[in-house]
Amino acid sequence: MSADGAVITTETKPLVDSFGRRITYLRLSVTDRCDLRCNYCMTEDAVFAPKANILTLEELGAVANAFIARGVRKVRLTGGEPLARRNILALIDALGARVRSGDIDELTVTTNATQLARFAEPLREAGVKRLNISLDTLDREKFAAIARRDALDRVLAGIDAAIGAGLKVKINTVALKDRNIDEIPSLIEWAHGKGMDLTLIEVMPLGEVEEDRIDQFASLTDVRRNLSERWTLEDISDRTGGPARYVRVKETGGRVGFITPLTGNFCDGCNRVRVTCSGELYMCLGQQRRVDLKGALRSGGPAALSSALDEAMRLKPLGHDFEISKRGDGVRVPRFMSATGG
Ligand code: 5AD
Ligand code: SF4
Repeated sequence: MSADGAVITTETKPLVDSFGRRITYLRLSVTDRCDLRCNYCMTEDAVFAPKANILTLEELGAVANAFIARGVRKVRLTGGEPLARRNILALIDALGARVRSGDIDELTVTTNATQLARFAEPLREAGVKRLNISLDTLDREKFAAIARRDALDRVLAGIDAAIGAGLKVKINTVALKDRNIDEIPSLIEWAHGKGMDLTLIEVMPLGEVEEDRIDQFASLTDVRRNLSERWTLEDISDRTGGPARYVRVKETGGRVGFITPLTGNFCDGCNRVRVTCSGELYMCLGQQRRVDLKGALRSGGPAALSSALDEAMRLKPLGHDFEISKRGDGVRVPRFMSATGG
């Protein structure tokens, strides 16, 4: 029994890893497919998981429920592109009901926004209040070069639809050497002008792509120095539990986040785990160890699922070991972001 008299069973006890970190945030990838092919994320001829390996929407719901029973308070749906999964609104409605009943605090979605014009209103109705939208450039040709698809117009329409529906939008921008570094100040001005925060992300060596990672990587230390020559950046001390550090730009009033997996301390206070659309539970974005939730779910049901979560807590590592220091460093983490979930 806990202090408030509730019965604590193995299926309801909180998830705490071997470093004492409480896991309260689940990132659930609902598909590894995407309608774009961002060149730092996937290859043009990306190979996706076979259908038989993909969890059904009901199974994805059961996985989320197992985590929620063990104290997870926030669920983010990722991909691939989550809105590319057929009937995804059925899962979003089911998880939205858990927000409405107070079982979790928040349901969020990370999307590339290509289909958001038609999804914005249904998402809000389901109980989603915030979205993270990935956008690396406002230049149509650069967009087509990075994402290998000419979709900027649809993305911008999707962003406007989300704002129009009253959703709170944060833009995620991957800092890409030679591709969008010059454009970062104008992206920030544009986002802040629409009331959106913008978070910059360093490229991580996840999966082998056509270019050498060293030709893509730009350090956010340099980007931040350039921004502070242009604007007054005020540190915001409170953290959201995530890896981003935020500053407020005095001149625009908006916030800029920095996610620096390679140059900064990223892992302390980690409160999250990731589940792929094939039901593999990864305790760390930058490590290979995983726990098979699909097997547990398909052969053993809820009790097996819950003990798989206990095993995962024993395996969660202290941190990642990413590195991009020299040409040909290759990949330590052979799986793509689209597989593990962004
Ligand atoms: N490094 C950093 N960010 C990546 N993303 C995809 N692949 C990588 C990578 N290798 C980003 C996308 C999106 C989020 C889901 O992850 O641009 O913003
Ligand atoms: Fe799709 Fe996002 Fe990967 Fe781009 S970064 S290809 S939008 S999953």
